[in-house]
Amino acid sequence: MNILLTGGAGYIGSHTAVELLKAGYDVIIADDLSNSSEEVISRIEELGGRRVSFYKLDVCCREGMDRLFSEQDIDACIHFAGKKAVGESVAKPLEYYRNNMDATMTLLETMEKHGVNIVVFSSSATVYGIPELVPVDEKATRWCTNPYGWTKYMSEQIMRDACVANNELSCMLLRYFNPIGAHESGRIGEDPRGIPNNLMPYISQVAIGRRERLSVYGNDYNTPDGTGVRDYIHVVDLAKGHVAALRYAETHPGCTAINLGTGKGYSVLDIVHAFEAANGIKIPYVITDRRPGDVETLYADPELAEKLLGWRAEKTIEDMCRDTWNWQRNNPNGYGN
Ligand code: NAD
Ligand code: UD1
Repeated sequence: MNILLTGGAGYIGSHTAVELLKAGYDVIIADDLSNSSEEVISRIEELGGRRVSFYKLDVCCREGMDRLFSEQDIDACIHFAGKKAVGESVAKPLEYYRNNMDATMTLLETMEKHGVNIVVFSSSATVYGIPELVPVDEKATRWCTNPYGWTKYMSEQIMRDACVANNELSCMLLRYFNPIGAHESGRIGEDPRGIPNNLMPYISQVAIGRRERLSVYGNDYNTPDGTGVRDYIHVVDLAKGHVAALRYAETHPGCTAINLGTGKGYSVLDIVHAFEAANGIKIPYVITDRRPGDVETLYADPELAEKLLGWRAEKTIEDMCRDTWNWQRNNPNGYGN
């Protein structure tokens, strides 16, 4: 089967490409490299043991997408392409709506034109906004607090409506919690541009000496140690979740939303201490003000993924910390951009 990965050169897409190749799928990647490097393609091939077809392409471009679908016999798509920085989306909402909504629309329209009926979508736990209850299950109220989140919410709705109109279409809405870690080889991993927004890349850049110390955003939350609690999931577990979702989609038309998380919550300081213990490195930190818009506690109810997909996360927080550091120390400047 030929699987098109939009945004497949990115962090989650590259790990998913490797798992797909290992599972016997053929992989086609369309990415404009706006937040990634072409270097990742050869590393995916090296880890997956087979070639990948790569198109440097803005997936909002209808002509380019039409050409790709004409040249390749696509069976299913996984839609990773999108901008993902929450703060930037507040500052540049139109850029976010244009890119993320156009990418979703152009992909769905091109799929319809070429008779492709399976899509797995990168949604986010951000669609739960500030949850009323944890763990959150898929039926929880959805509401967003920033433009990035709304692009996920709206893309989900578009896919839901498209499934009503076409009863052969299958859309899997995968709501990721907090992906961290890297492939255990240390050959692919997360390579953020500029100052990292997210916790784990910031910690690993402190560890390698690119940043002086971590700012812990608030220790006065109603949590065991006062710092924010999240559901961190190893990116390789997450990648395997995509393979399982694709298999499910092949035989289940309709729209299905599924949480991909571990069901366990860890605080910011838990992660700092786990990183220190796993790698024998001290992470200096200071406590600062809360980050506006941050949620106190968010972790998944992961039962539905186990029930429908037969998938559950297996890697531990130690694996996540060890693999992050292995990637970072082997690639101190990421892919070298
Ligand atoms: P990433 O930035 O590493 O990957 C996204 C890729 O999409 C990049 O390679 C970028 O160049 C590409 N891209 C963006 N706009 C494009 C366009 N118009 N045409 C072609 N390519 C385009 O991000 P990631 O962490 O791998 O995230 C993948 C998806 O998962 C995103 O949609 C993101 O919103 C979602 N997600 C990520 C997280 C997370 O914490 N990383 C959490 C929840 C959801
Ligand atoms: C952030 C996004 C969310 C997105 C998710 C995955 C915000 C407000 N939310 O979530 O929409 O889906 O990333 O991409 O940006 N922390 C620090 N110091 C740091 C960085 C983070 O203390 O330098 C803390 C945060 O306050 C939080 C935890 O670490 O408690 C995790 O933060 P982060 O990795 O940014 O993820 P989220 O806040 O869950």
